[in-house]
Amino acid sequence: MKKDNPKVVEHVAFFDAEAAHWEDRYASDPRFARRFARIAELFNLVLPAAPGRALDVGCGTGIFSRELARRGWRVTALDASPEMIEHAQAHPDHDSIEFIKGSYATHPPDGNCFDLILALSVLEYVEDDEAALRHFAKLLKPGGLLIVSVPNRKGLLRVLEGLVFGVRTVSRGRLFGSRGDYLVHQKHQYSSLELSLMLRQLGFRKVRGFFVGAGISGPSWLLPLFERRWWAGMYCAAYKKLGSGESRSHLPTSGDRVGRA
Ligand SMILES: C[S@@+](CC[C@H](N)C(=O)[O-])C[C@H]1O[C@@H](n2cnc3c(N)ncnc32)[C@H](O)[C@@H]1O
Repeated sequence: MKKDNPKVVEHVAFFDAEAAHWEDRYASDPRFARRFARIAELFNLVLPAAPGRALDVGCGTGIFSRELARRGWRVTALDASPEMIEHAQAHPDHDSIEFIKGSYATHPPDGNCFDLILALSVLEYVEDDEAALRHFAKLLKPGGLLIVSVPNRKGLLRVLEGLVFGVRTVSRGRLFGSRGDYLVHQKHQYSSLELSLMLRQLGFRKVRGFFVGAGISGPSWLLPLFERRWWAGMYCAAYKKLGSGESRSHLPTSGDRVGRA
């Protein structure tokens, strides 16, 4: 088995330290809860009626793996952080899920027969993101779905976050303390179009996409105003791996909202 690259090991230590609190965030932070709800809504819209075999890459503590298992999918869940996997396995509802500890690049799952791959908030931490997507494409069956969430490079929220992080770095942490810690490890951000173009070149077609991550936890009528390309922190979309005879021609030019493919 190949050794993990030192850069992976560095961010793994960061996620190991996050593992004990990761799951609680979905219960206690309305922004995490909202992201979960929007992704579950996407599942309702795009997943086939007959569940198949799914791979959750960078599964964290397995919240989305369990959601898929609950819907009848056979799930393999993989994470480079051993602590994340330990917490995922400690959850009472993990029984039907197969877990792999390690990077997707060095501990690939058996076979290339997945009907669905999730890569939720993981691509931005990977050194060679194009190689990762190529790898996922190989693991998917033709007609299979890849669901990805990434930081929205065009969102004002990300721009402001970047400024805060810049001030924090220049002031050596004297200003803004540990705010945006994860940005130390984040290697990429994407516009919705950049992500779709990368995937188009690898033989995918976008099915649905939406922006999420308003960065605020206000009343529910307020959130959709900020869940737009110009502001939102995150973009999430489902892509279909095309078979050899299928056309890639339908490529929406910007982030379609869920329910408006
Ligand atoms: C921001 S967390 C997202 C966790 C989960 N997908 C979620 O949405 O709650 C990113 C996860 O990706 C994992 N990760 C980062 N690089 C990885 C790699 N090369 N292979 C597998 N997992 C990786 C980290 O250990 C971490 O648990």
